Amino acid sequence: MPNPLPTRRHVLAGLSAAALPAIVSPTAFAATGPSLRALAAEKGILFGSALSARISEAPYLDILKAECGLIVPENELKVYVISSQPDRFNFAPGDAIASFARDNGMKMRGHTLLWNKVEFMPKWLLDIDFGSNPAREAERYLRDYIKRVCTHYGDQIISWDVVNETIDPKTGEIRDTPFTKALGFDCIRIAFEAAREYAPKAQLVYNDYMSWERGNETHRKGVLKLLETLRAKNVPVDGFGIQSHIGNDGHIKEAQHEQWRAFIDGAVGMNYKLLITEFDVNDKDLPTDTAARDAGVAAAAKDYLDLMFSYKQLDQFLCWGMSDNHSWLQGWTPRTDKTPQRPTPYDAQYRPKPLRDAIAAALKAAPKR
Ligand code: XIL
Repeated sequence: MPNPLPTRRHVLAGLSAAALPAIVSPTAFAATGPSLRALAAEKGILFGSALSARISEAPYLDILKAECGLIVPENELKVYVISSQPDRFNFAPGDAIASFARDNGMKMRGHTLLWNKVEFMPKWLLDIDFGSNPAREAERYLRDYIKRVCTHYGDQIISWDVVNETIDPKTGEIRDTPFTKALGFDCIRIAFEAAREYAPKAQLVYNDYMSWERGNETHRKGVLKLLETLRAKNVPVDGFGIQSHIGNDGHIKEAQHEQWRAFIDGAVGMNYKLLITEFDVNDKDLPTDTAARDAGVAAAAKDYLDLMFSYKQLDQFLCWGMSDNHSWLQGWTPRTDKTPQRPTPYDAQYRPKPLRDAIAAALKAAPKR
């Protein structure tokens, strides 16, 4: 990422709006009214977004500067980026994002110290041999890794997704990984304890995707059980991050409001803070027509956010990207009609969409915390 980053004014001055009307028209991407950050702040909520170090388009970064008070690296603090080889630690991509956040007065979240899912571990880690005393060596490795990452970023990271997605949605049990093989549940405890030791000022979060649509009941039950166990064993966990990739698997119209409330009640009843860490709306089962689709996305978002913001324990809210062209869903779960997904508040030309209005409306309607 270039540093210092060009401002929107510089970019607009350097390009003719007539030549590139869809991308840089000055009126096109300015949302009217207060920023999402300001609307959220009025209610005691910190608003932000994920950002990938691969992105350098000034209009996109300008949206983040205008709207966000909080940034989380989309991939740059994951083990497969930091430590793609054994005993090698690459902080350069994460550092680029940390500089962007610092230069623009934004706070920063960290994602994630232990993504306890084999699909997201580098091959060398999957093949790791923890030797004749695997519990001791696995603990040593985990604590050392967490120490390196936490101390590298220090107090700049105000909140860490310490453990991510460790519950298997099919069984509701903890997933099998090299760490659970060596340590069982203890790998979760050790991760949080090490994070508390090496990032003593940061909020420590368990993060998982959690969906309110039909078909996610076993997952919810398993996560609640995990949250209970963490409390019973006095593991230092402050918050529960609900990723909130809503509209998943084409069940956007099958939200289970009552079951979802019971689930959230269960978590806040155990005294966890709540965070929406990765909000976007998968529009897979909405029609091709753009206006109809945007309306469906906005309605689903308003419905979901109204419920979530009614919980005063929720004080951080992040989108997983701010414009459709930079959404992970394009490659991850493409639509059958092959048109691009429209899951984020701004379109591919960086113009605000009805989803941005829905987010603003939900923030305006939220009670103060
Ligand atoms: C995704 C990123 O957006 C992609 O770029 C990457 O290829 C895979 O991971 N849950 C999480 C995030 O916790 O880390 C995931 O991010 C999205 C789902």
